[in-house]
Amino acid sequence: MTTAVTIPRHGGTGGRTAVARARQVVKAYGSGETRVVALDHVDVDIARGRFTAIMGPSGSGKSTLMHCLAGLDTVTGGQIFLDETEITGLKDKKLTQLRRDRIGFIFQAFNLLPTLSALENITLPMDIAGRRPDRAWLDRVVDTVGLAGRLKHRPAELSGGQQQRVAVARALAAKPDIIFGDEPTGNLDSRAGAEVLGFLRQSVDELEQTIVMVTHDPVAASYADRVLYLADGRIVDEMERPTADAVLDRMKDFDARGRTS
Ligand SMILES: Nc1ncnc2c1ncn2[C@@H]1O[C@H](COP(=O)(O)OP(=O)(O)OP(=O)(O)O)[C@@H](O)[C@H]1O
Ligand SMILES: [Mg+2]
Repeated sequence: MTTAVTIPRHGGTGGRTAVARARQVVKAYGSGETRVVALDHVDVDIARGRFTAIMGPSGSGKSTLMHCLAGLDTVTGGQIFLDETEITGLKDKKLTQLRRDRIGFIFQAFNLLPTLSALENITLPMDIAGRRPDRAWLDRVVDTVGLAGRLKHRPAELSGGQQQRVAVARALAAKPDIIFGDEPTGNLDSRAGAEVLGFLRQSVDELEQTIVMVTHDPVAASYADRVLYLADGRIVDEMERPTADAVLDRMKDFDARGRTS
């Protein structure tokens, strides 16, 4: 028998408005015998101006949830909202536009273009969209990520941590409503990782960003305001104001439960 912790609502927005919402979201891959239910009726609210971490075992549906929330993947059932817009109802063109204008991404493998300078990489999405960057904002972002002296460098001339900070600056530059990162520090050593996490934290505190980050690392999760735990496609627990030790203990609990169930 499984003893998953039941939590009636995963709303915990602490009185803030939710910028992203999932309602009864189901995501299934394949059909018949090979059908996999990656998300099983997930309800979640992501509060504006907060840093949320998503944790859980490999295969529990973390990336799938993030991709569905970000409109990068379609759902099998249920609804996803970005503010008042139901993105699960949008046609491709509108969805592409919304992603471009309102959502930022930080990928595990930076995804920088090698032939462009750091600055050109940061402004690339806006260049493609034909939008002029807000200069003051851009300066602030570049300054906060500590890249001011590195803007003319190509990615190959930057350290891993600096490259990831370029990727973070690129996500922030267009002032998106929400930023998603799937293990954004997964490829970095602990010092570079701490640098990027510190910056993500700062962009929530000082630039009022909203960030959702998938991570396996209790230390990374401790930078967040709230941790959601996924297991078998369901949100089974959550923690407010996580510390690395508390997250680690909770993970041990889950492991122990997994072994006896
Ligand atoms: N394109 C796909 N086709 C079929 N099954 C898929 C596909 N993508 C994901 N899955 C399955 O859906 C489930 C959830 O996958 P997901 O990638 O969301 O897990 P995750 O929690 O991000 O894992 P990890 O920590 O390993 O990245 C897994 O069982 C996976 O095998
Ligand atoms: Mg994943």
